[in-house]
Amino acid sequence: MKATDLLEQQHRKVEDVFDKLKNSKSNASALLEELANDLSAHMAIEQNIFYPAVREVDSDTVEESLEEHSMAEIALKRLLRTPVTDPSFEAKLTTLEELIEHHVEEEEEELFPEVEEKLGADKLDTLGRQMEKAFEQAKAEGFNALVPQGLSQTSADESRKIASQMKAPTPNGAVAQRR
Ligand SMILES: [Fe+2]
Ligand SMILES: [Fe+2]
Repeated sequence: MKATDLLEQQHRKVEDVFDKLKNSKSNASALLEELANDLSAHMAIEQNIFYPAVREVDSDTVEESLEEHSMAEIALKRLLRTPVTDPSFEAKLTTLEELIEHHVEEEEEELFPEVEEKLGADKLDTLGRQMEKAFEQAKAEGFNALVPQGLSQTSADESRKIASQMKAPTPNGAVAQRR
């Protein structure tokens, strides 16, 4: 499957979980866990595979996307530590949903069309296969393993750091490897 199609499919899945959460609170804790695992695994494969592969197509949108992931992750953490019965639960859920909606719209309407044009079907297929596997692995690890503790650091910050370490030239001009 093309990388962009895979990501769009995952966007629809996340939207579906949001709808379920808004419509019924009876199964909220299981749905919140599903949302956290889906979202963090989706963000992980974008941050670690998709964005680095497409950065040169539109580096401004990729940078903005990483920042939006950070904001969404913090909003998600705040939601997860809020009991469903808390008066602010609904507001936190809506705020997270709006952040994601805006971000998904930018990806699907700005970034993906550019990427599809520049990368071509074969490259997108190969990337898609790699991302599909990585998503299953990330999802099995789960939210708590994928995101840092606390609110000061996000997984997007960590992905940025790893990407810049991989690019940093060593004294003899070779490219540093990720440990
Ligand atoms: Fe994203
Ligand atoms: Fe996405």
